Amino acid sequence: MIFRQLFDSVSSTYTYLLGCGDTHDAVVIDPVFEQHSRDTALIRELGLKVRYALDTHVHADHVTGAWLMRTALNAETVLSARYGIDNVDVSVDHGDVLAFGNCSLTVRATPGHTSGCLTFVTSGQDMAFTGDCLMIRGAGRTDFQAGDEHVMWHSIREQIFTLPDNCLVYPGHDYAGRTVSTVLEEKTFNPRIGGDAREEDFVGYMENLGLPHPKLIDIAVPANLNGGRPADDHPPGEINWGPVTMTFAGIPEIRPDWVARHLEDLFVLDVRSSGEFDGDLGHLDTAHLIPLSELRERLEEVPRDRPVVTVCQSGKRSAMAAEILLKSGFEQVANINGGLIQWSRLALPFLRH
Ligand SMILES: [Fe+2]
Repeated sequence: MIFRQLFDSVSSTYTYLLGCGDTHDAVVIDPVFEQHSRDTALIRELGLKVRYALDTHVHADHVTGAWLMRTALNAETVLSARYGIDNVDVSVDHGDVLAFGNCSLTVRATPGHTSGCLTFVTSGQDMAFTGDCLMIRGAGRTDFQAGDEHVMWHSIREQIFTLPDNCLVYPGHDYAGRTVSTVLEEKTFNPRIGGDAREEDFVGYMENLGLPHPKLIDIAVPANLNGGRPADDHPPGEINWGPVTMTFAGIPEIRPDWVARHLEDLFVLDVRSSGEFDGDLGHLDTAHLIPLSELRERLEEVPRDRPVVTVCQSGKRSAMAAEILLKSGFEQVANINGGLIQWSRLALPFLRH
């Protein structure tokens, strides 16, 4: 199985990407709205087809990226039936199974943090995605959104601690950089519910956490009840001057054939040396040469009123150039994918030798 754990540092949320190694069908668990372009870049680069966008629960601390996944990738959104929300594609409850290729996740109802919290367990019971129920040496708070520490006690003891001891526990958040635990570790060392803890010990601990009210709750909960659909139906950071795709490395890229068709509207910035500019590979008709090492000092030569596409031999130095321009406040910037090597391989016009 293909497995990736992704992190949103603003809300300390983990997003999980699971894919079938045979068919490349996949699911994404707890995508974060603001991380949509990062997540879709990785999904595209790994060649995955996302069947389901799952939320372990209605979050109070961040907005889900589920609606964006549905719109961009045709994923079906999945949430607990216990919230009674009707704009979800697949409402699930305890015992339901979600298949993706030759892999599957079984749903366990683990309420307590909210009434509809779910834990997703892989078919071999070797991984459990526990959301905000059991966390690494912790447990999700129970002081809002119909939270109940007695209910959570039963969820953890009866639904998570009954999994095999070596089952890996992947939580919805961690605030200390811890990435994974096991059922045995938490049964033994969890300070709230591990060891000889009894229900009243757990309840006493949870009732006295003294946490501040979540900053985003008044925004996040209503948004999440709507799947995280933006008011204007546009994804965050959407680029509309051209078909720019963000790579997982965070570089905006554009296809050379599109650039060739729109050359007159673009400022082409070549960042090779002058020797290369006049060398074998040639250069684009309208290209402006600023070697990469001089770019930071010569930014005033680059216009801000039209899109800038950067180019070099193979698209590596020009990716750095795009990064420099973005950091310097240029808004319409993209790196020509594959550079002039790809341009000449495609036999595109406007290459002057
Ligand atoms: Fe939560």
